[in-house]
Amino acid sequence: MKKVLFAAIVCSAVLVSCAKTVPASVPAKIKDGIIELEAPARAPGQQSALGMKCDPIETVRIAFVGVGGRGTGAVRRYIHLDGVKIVAFCDLKQERLDICQNILKKAGLPAADNYLGEESYKELCNRDDIDLVYIATDWLDHVPISVYALEHGHHVAVEVPAAMTIAECWQLVDASEKARRHCMMLENCCYDFFEMSALNMAQHGLFGEVYHVEGAYIHFLAEDWDRSETWRVDYNIDNRGDNYPTHGLGPICQALNIHRGDKMDYLVAMDTPSYNGKVAAKKFRNKDYCKDGDHTISLIQTEKDKLIEVQHNVYAYRPYSRMYQLTGTEGFANKYPQQGISVKGINGHNYVSEEVMDSLLTAYRPDFAKAIEEKAKTVGGHGGMDFIMDYRLIYCLHNGLPLDEDVYDAAEWSAVQELSRISLENGSMPVRFPDFTRGDWNVIDGFHYAL
Ligand SMILES: NC(=O)c1ccc[n+]([C@@H]2O[C@H](COP(=O)([O-])OP(=O)(O)OC[C@H]3O[C@@H](n4cnc5c(N)ncnc54)[C@H](O)[C@@H]3O)[C@@H](O)[C@H]2O)c1
Repeated sequence: MKKVLFAAIVCSAVLVSCAKTVPASVPAKIKDGIIELEAPARAPGQQSALGMKCDPIETVRIAFVGVGGRGTGAVRRYIHLDGVKIVAFCDLKQERLDICQNILKKAGLPAADNYLGEESYKELCNRDDIDLVYIATDWLDHVPISVYALEHGHHVAVEVPAAMTIAECWQLVDASEKARRHCMMLENCCYDFFEMSALNMAQHGLFGEVYHVEGAYIHFLAEDWDRSETWRVDYNIDNRGDNYPTHGLGPICQALNIHRGDKMDYLVAMDTPSYNGKVAAKKFRNKDYCKDGDHTISLIQTEKDKLIEVQHNVYAYRPYSRMYQLTGTEGFANKYPQQGISVKGINGHNYVSEEVMDSLLTAYRPDFAKAIEEKAKTVGGHGGMDFIMDYRLIYCLHNGLPLDEDVYDAAEWSAVQELSRISLENGSMPVRFPDFTRGDWNVIDGFHYAL
């Protein structure tokens, strides 16, 4: 099923002004020099899921679908959470199911039910004793499984990127709105300690008006391609564009209140040729090409004329970086390669001292994060941020609160993959962002954690 999904949903959209035919997952046209993708109308009776609250759940019954590297990591963390019950595992490989059952056994927890095979998630979703389906399969399976789970009445937590095309983004939005069930993309980087504190500082006005933000996924993966699962490698070889945009985008979009007072308006992308990617494609897959350029940059203008820059590079001999920069009229926060804060009135030209930065970061850490910090660092998962994300998801489900990351975040952050590809394939033409909220991007006043 997954192998043909991407090709099957692609249809051609003819761009009249430059007479190029650009594959887009939904029909496209050029208007005022900007490529615009057709947006489906909301079905009658279907309502917005902005700020959606669902019934509180005392014990969240969870089924994990896709328990490879990342899914198994989640199981290892979830055994440390209160108020959850792990009821099922689903994977293509029996050995992955066995590993997860062993985790439960070692923790003294009851065994979960096993589901084996590519379509067995359907049997799992047909059960009525599951509250949350936690999806950590390869990218092309995220949407079919999420939609099926939502349609069968379950909340969904899905790994990054939630969707690979604009058509898939709309499918998630529509399924969540129709089912009145949450669909959260598991963008864990929003819960890293520096980012959470910097966001809080921005919200308290320490940086003034934040007008330029930068994020990235710069992670040297190409030399590990022989050890990787084939799906990720093959996707990069066959797809141009920012193929993994959400780690960079999530935290900076929260700082700009995207769809909570501002929205991403249009995007322009540029990339380099494939250098190291091409070498890796030949070495590990015997392919003579790699469509993904070594370095891809997308520039996004928001409705309120702020700037977002997001970069992707999994091929360079350079240290890991998600960039994370917030620039405002009165200050600046920088996470990579060196953490630093500048604030008007403390030190105009340089970063504040490390001591001052540490005290600011501690003072502005959200209370929920302070309360769970020690446990999160012990349980782990990218230094603790994964466990904070888990904690917040379960806390909101327990209390019937809107989730920190809603289905519109999942769609907007994931959309950069296809939008950047369309821009690149049309000589870096601007591409308009679909408004997944269908006109409600200014209804919510700023990003806030529900407490
Ligand atoms: N947020 C993060 O920090 C982070 C880190 C790593 C990976 N990820 C994401 O997690 C996801 C999984 O990555 P991974 O590295 O664990 O990959 P993986 O290949 O190790 O695991 C994927 C698992 O899904 C299973 N699977 C595939 N199709 C299935 C289906 N139809 N039904 C049931 N199981 C199925 C596979 O058998 C495999 O065990 C990806 O979306 C990836 O982008 C996120």
